[in-house]
Amino acid sequence: METFQYMGMPKVYFGQGILKTALDAEIPETVHTVMIAYGGGSIKRTGIFDSIVDYLSSRNMKYVEFSGIMPNPTYAKVQEGAKLAVDAQVDLILAVGGGSVIDCCKVIAVQAKTDKDLWQSEFVDHIYPTDHIPLAAVTTVSGTGSEMNNGAVITNESTLQKNGMLGAMADFVVLDPSYTLTVPMMQAVSGAFDTLSHCMETYFGKPAEINVSDEMNESVMRNVIRNIRAMIKDPKDVKVRSELMWDASMAENGILKIGKITDFQNHMLEHQLGAYTDCNHGQGLAVIHPTVYRHLLKDNTARFARFAKEVFGVDTEGKSEEQAASEGIDALQAFIREIGLPCTLTELKNNMRHGTGDPTDPELLRKIADSTIITKGCARQMDADEIYTILTECIA
Ligand code: NZQ
Ligand code: ZN
Repeated sequence: METFQYMGMPKVYFGQGILKTALDAEIPETVHTVMIAYGGGSIKRTGIFDSIVDYLSSRNMKYVEFSGIMPNPTYAKVQEGAKLAVDAQVDLILAVGGGSVIDCCKVIAVQAKTDKDLWQSEFVDHIYPTDHIPLAAVTTVSGTGSEMNNGAVITNESTLQKNGMLGAMADFVVLDPSYTLTVPMMQAVSGAFDTLSHCMETYFGKPAEINVSDEMNESVMRNVIRNIRAMIKDPKDVKVRSELMWDASMAENGILKIGKITDFQNHMLEHQLGAYTDCNHGQGLAVIHPTVYRHLLKDNTARFARFAKEVFGVDTEGKSEEQAASEGIDALQAFIREIGLPCTLTELKNNMRHGTGDPTDPELLRKIADSTIITKGCARQMDADEIYTILTECIA
């Protein structure tokens, strides 16, 4: 167990129809103007927007809309939202959506309180935010766990970097699993795979010995795998959505990371893949995970062998540690194929409805490799050449 300090998390309201209970309890009379921030419009089609507007009207509160937050939100979009928040004198931001909306709003909440360029402050001057407009996260698609941490993944289009910024942590969170029933199945599965990825990125970090966080993590991973299968079988089962929604929060609320140095090398690589191609986050992770792990097999053999047995139920009896470890990675690859996520960059490309770059273009892959952050928690520090090799192995 590494040394750690543990800080509390945002207050969570969980359950079907919980929105009014949360807003009654958490929005004080002093709030005059609320910003309702959302993405491309799913909240209007599903009726979530109307239920929020009706609620605010019942309390005579004004609202402004901030729409069009895109998947893989940009720093320019953050600036647009912050300007609106200042101009409209917003005193509460409701981020209604998935990781993209919540991340964008975490940084808007902070940017609206300072004239400084936050990108420069955080990545160059290393000065971190201290003040923010109160923020609530109303999750409508689960997976990233963004609602329960203060990381915000933002793409800076001018530098082509997709980086985790420190934004505001939500002051309260609304998790209604029934909201996620309308999410297209491909997105729901890729979100749930993102959750599994967060668990794995934590589990395969350091130290090598198993601790209580790892044992809890194994349980969450088994739950995610079981419930992805159940969701595909019965997309309307809200109990399954509830499990996946809380799994997503559990993977990112810090509990599983206690006493760990996390890995997150796959994430650093996928974020650059996203910065250059605008691909879907969960799908990008699905493509690269097995290949990255095959490269690391000899550096973390015992942990991969345990993963095989405890998470995928591989029969390891009589097998060498290396054989068991290898079968665990095979099981992960087979699971990705089974649930319909892409297994190669070519398949990822075929799934992309739009995109800013071709994920099978070797020249682009070189730029992605060269700009990928190398993490300290990875079992072995890779270099840009190895990352490039991994990407080329993922093409077909
Ligand atoms: O934009 P709308 O119209 O709302 O449609 C969205 C979007 O197209 C749709 N959607 C959301 N709720 C829906 C719905 N469609 C129907 N019914 C609903 N109830 O889902 C699509 C994807 O939304 P998005 O927010 O982009 O997905 P996700 O939650 O996977 O977020 C991805 C972003 O989060 C970042 C990723 O890098 C990516 O930018 N991450 C944030 C993390 C964090 N803050 O801790 C950690 C993650 O590792 C990740 O990097
Ligand atoms: Zn992720």
